[in-house]
Amino acid sequence: MKVLLTGAGGQLGRHLRAAAPAGLQLVTSARHAGDHPCDLTDPAALSAMLDAVGPDLIINAAAWTAVDAAEDHPDDAAVMNRDLPAVLAGWCSHHDAVLLTYSTDYVFGGAGQRPWREEDLTAPNSVYGQTKLAGEQAVIESGARAFIVRTAWVYSALPGNFVSAILARAEHGEDLRVVADQVGSPTWAGELARASWVLAAVERPRGPECLHVAGRGAMSWHEFACAAVQGAAASGLIKAPVAVAPISSADWPQRAQRPAWSVLDCSRYQQRTGDELMDIETALDRCLAQWTQPPC
Ligand SMILES: NC(=O)c1ccc[n+]([C@@H]2O[C@H](COP(=O)([O-])OP(=O)(O)OC[C@H]3O[C@@H](n4cnc5c(N)ncnc54)[C@H](OP(=O)(O)O)[C@@H]3O)[C@@H](O)[C@H]2O)c1
Repeated sequence: MKVLLTGAGGQLGRHLRAAAPAGLQLVTSARHAGDHPCDLTDPAALSAMLDAVGPDLIINAAAWTAVDAAEDHPDDAAVMNRDLPAVLAGWCSHHDAVLLTYSTDYVFGGAGQRPWREEDLTAPNSVYGQTKLAGEQAVIESGARAFIVRTAWVYSALPGNFVSAILARAEHGEDLRVVADQVGSPTWAGELARASWVLAAVERPRGPECLHVAGRGAMSWHEFACAAVQGAAASGLIKAPVAVAPISSADWPQRAQRPAWSVLDCSRYQQRTGDELMDIETALDRCLAQWTQPPC
């Protein structure tokens, strides 16, 4: 099987490369690197790459992921989050290939009473969430054989995510203030990559299938920060635990609004694959255990 991985230089892309099973032909693409460097906003370059590679499976880990900046750049965010999945799905439809692309818990809005299921009503309250939902809809309309994997709160030992940001500050002995009124499913990129390769190996989807894949369980950002600080101190990644004060979202104004309830029900993935996703605590431990040697 020939697999084209877009976004190969990103957080998830790096973990996907590291976790790729032996025996498949992996072709990577990043903006300026990989086997086929490509600016994915360039339709001619994208089309030429797809035809040159001729993949059986496309794993699209590329996206506009700057949630706050998307509020000021909705058109740019839409090119990556709506138009790119649409083009990839169209190519897959015409070539009987499979697409695996990622969406987000931010397609949901407001508060929830129970973990979100795939069929629950979406109501994104940010441009990022709206553009990701538009990408989902484009893939569904294409009719392509596709997995649309909604995930949440992705973190890793690589720079540029919640855990690496708070541990960088904790390392310098800085006390932290962390939002306690947003609850979600923190997801280690290593576990998401593993689950993605599980999906790549199951029976091909007959059409578009939406699946939730996230850390098993639920935590607020504050609880997650406390767990990360404690775990990092226990494993010697920081000298000592720092104080982590709970604050409200109102005390931490951000350009884009985040849902208060972001917990994903992943039972459809588990039924589809027979695979059990890692709980949040174990995944955090695994991530911290590999902290000094993240995939590069
Ligand atoms: N991170 C989260 O908390 C989270 C939560 C829910 C869902 N997701 C979804 O999970 C997927 C993976 O996210 P991630 O955390 O791995 O994000 P990431 O680290 O920001 O990776 C995204 C990748 O897309 C690439 N990219 C953006 N524009 C491009 C362009 N024009 N041409 C080529 N490459 C381009 C970026 O390359 P450059 O570095 O060169 O820009 C980057 O490597 C995304 O679909 C995201 O929406 C993430």
